[in-house]
Amino acid sequence: MTQKISIIILGAGKGTRMKSNKSKVLHKIAGLSMIEHVISGALNLNPNELSIVISDEMGVDVQRDLKKKYNNLYFTIQKDRLGTGHAVRVAIENSKVNSDTCLILYGDTPFIEKETLRNIIDDSRESDVSVLAFESEDPSSYGRLIVDGQKLEKIVEFKDANKKQREVKLCNSGVMAINGSKINNLLARINNNNASKEFYLTDIVAIAKMEGLKCSFIKCNEDEVLGINSRLQLAEAEKIFQDKKRQEMMNNGVTLVDPNSVHFSFDTKIENDVVIHPNVVFGAGVEIDSGTEVKSFSHIEGAKIAKNTIIGPFARIRPGVELGENVKIGNFVEIKKSKIANGVKINHLSYIGDTNIGSESNIGAGTITCNYNGYNKFQTNIGSNVFIGSNSALVAPVNISDNAMIAAGSVITKDVPEGSLAISRSKQTLIKGGSLTFKNKAKNT
Ligand code: UD1
Ligand code: MG
Repeated sequence: MTQKISIIILGAGKGTRMKSNKSKVLHKIAGLSMIEHVISGALNLNPNELSIVISDEMGVDVQRDLKKKYNNLYFTIQKDRLGTGHAVRVAIENSKVNSDTCLILYGDTPFIEKETLRNIIDDSRESDVSVLAFESEDPSSYGRLIVDGQKLEKIVEFKDANKKQREVKLCNSGVMAINGSKINNLLARINNNNASKEFYLTDIVAIAKMEGLKCSFIKCNEDEVLGINSRLQLAEAEKIFQDKKRQEMMNNGVTLVDPNSVHFSFDTKIENDVVIHPNVVFGAGVEIDSGTEVKSFSHIEGAKIAKNTIIGPFARIRPGVELGENVKIGNFVEIKKSKIANGVKINHLSYIGDTNIGSESNIGAGTITCNYNGYNKFQTNIGSNVFIGSNSALVAPVNISDNAMIAAGSVITKDVPEGSLAISRSKQTLIKGGSLTFKNKAKNT
């Protein structure tokens, strides 16, 4: 029989320790909010229902954005945040699903591996309450599992634990799989007689025990279940994510000259034989094909980069950029929303925005596409084999056709037809001996 699974993600907590004006679970790790890390992990299990408990302050726009991005999300607003046990109860009262197993995930615990979630679901087939635990050398404020051999007796929250219980190193990750037909009765019996005056979900273990139900636990790696409650833990989580991503990249054949100085986004995709030099940052939506080299101090986001291209040092590639094969983007070049065909060179000090450039064109140092008049953005089209002389301003909208040349220092406001040379600069005046005359005069005044 297939096991019907419903998943509840808790994300309504106050997040007091973050000292933030926004909901804790909206803080980002590698560019993706914590809650979205948890949602994508949950979706791997193909649940029958995925429900998220949020607070009022999370806002309608966040709900709408999440619903747009992920199908079949069900939101419950927990108005009075009375604890994790209360949050689950509110979610269940608000949903209609009748599942075999209800899996609880915490919105502030974003890195649980697919495999681990499958293991806890497997364990729950034989158990009424199955808890995901981990051993920690520094268990600080995590809830502690009190066990008798392999048998789970109860979970004690740190604030309520006595000295001996605080020495226990087996901690609660927050993940629990609970028998769907028993969960309502168990939740109804949780009270708030504790140090925080909250309804702790963790009390469900002792209650189930009293009812003669079976409680169990499985263990996972501590890194997977780091609970993020403060900015410090947010930074630790970022580091864990980055380290994993760096290893994954190197295992897939990407060279990271100094791995610790390269920062990836949650979705960065890089093929083998790409070389990334020190101090490179990737924002969301970057794909790089084999053989490309990214030199130091480059910042790349929202870009598709083809084979054997060279970027940087000090390049900034912004969203909506496509770079062809064998392209060269040099130092202090910024490119936005532009398609750059094979073999193009933009080697120094340029801004290229809302532009198409055909193959093998050479864009001289200091070329600027003037794409904005303060109100609207305009397009520049540059053909193939075009040569743009240094320090030219191309005032959009403007088209420069194949094989055209622009003389250095030009301000181009009109289209340049195929094969033409456009010069648009003031004529040079020459005064023979003028330098000496000037200097003599200047000295004697
Ligand atoms: C909780 C566990 C603790 C465990 C730790 C793991 C309880 C009582 N304690 O402690 O045993 O070791 O997580 O990280 O469960 N939330 C709501 N509504 C509420 C309260 C919390 O939705 O009324 C959400 C929070 O947004 C958060 C999650 O539940 O995502 C956990 O709450 P948090 O306050 O972070 O609990 P911890 O003190 O970390
Ligand atoms: Mg927490």
